[in-house]
Amino acid sequence: MTEDRSFDMPLEEAMRTQRSIRRLRADPVDHDLLLHCVELALKAPTGSNSQGWEFVLVEDRTSVGAIGRLNGFAWRLYGPVGRRQYRRNEQMQRILAAVQHQADNYDDIPALVVPCVRVPFSIPFVIGPVLGASALYGSVYPSIQNFLLACRAAGLGACLTTLPLWNVRRVRKILGLPRGLLPVAVIPVGWPEGRYGPTTRRPVKEVVHLDRFGNRPFL
Ligand SMILES: Cc1cc2nc3c(=O)[nH]c(=O)nc-3n(C[C@H](O)[C@H](O)[C@H](O)COP(=O)(O)O)c2cc1C
Repeated sequence: MTEDRSFDMPLEEAMRTQRSIRRLRADPVDHDLLLHCVELALKAPTGSNSQGWEFVLVEDRTSVGAIGRLNGFAWRLYGPVGRRQYRRNEQMQRILAAVQHQADNYDDIPALVVPCVRVPFSIPFVIGPVLGASALYGSVYPSIQNFLLACRAAGLGACLTTLPLWNVRRVRKILGLPRGLLPVAVIPVGWPEGRYGPTTRRPVKEVVHLDRFGNRPFL
């Protein structure tokens, strides 16, 4: 098992192999290492350089367990639907098995990182809900991707999840978040049980359009 903390992995390698790691060892992760990953996350852009982000590192067993129960509740509803929907898709079946593993072993996850964004009072009213939502989530998700890449480079396993956020009020309460601070993801982090690997994605030439949607000369 690698515990490489050097962060000097080539960027392309990190991007090509960063994937959701849901099978984690229970061993704790150094605060310094997690802080380093968050520091790299903070190099991301935000609208007007607002930096209205906060990251809650959750290690308290009661809080991890409570968030795990929220995750488990949502998973018990979605899991059977997903299994039926993807019953002929082997790759999705593997992902769903990993989600099940994560749900079953949530209490052993050493740390959760919960990125939050401050909701500016002006957004929904002044610039409208659509632009507001883009600016709001767009001012925190780039940092989340940075965080995931930093974890990858450090050899840590991480997985962006939103299932526990079906009950934002409850998450707010568990973490003591003030009003106006919105949790946007829950990222279980730890040392991976397995290995990173290449991700499966649609081919680039299939998704790029030139000038107008549907014009795909690169295909
Ligand atoms: C917005 C968003 C929400 C997600 N929510 C969950 C989640 O609640 N639980 C989970 O296990 N994975 C979640 N994922 C991870 C995706 O399932 C995963 O990225 C996708 O299946 C591709 O797998 P890979 O990351 O291993 O390439 C989420 C990803 C995104 C971008």
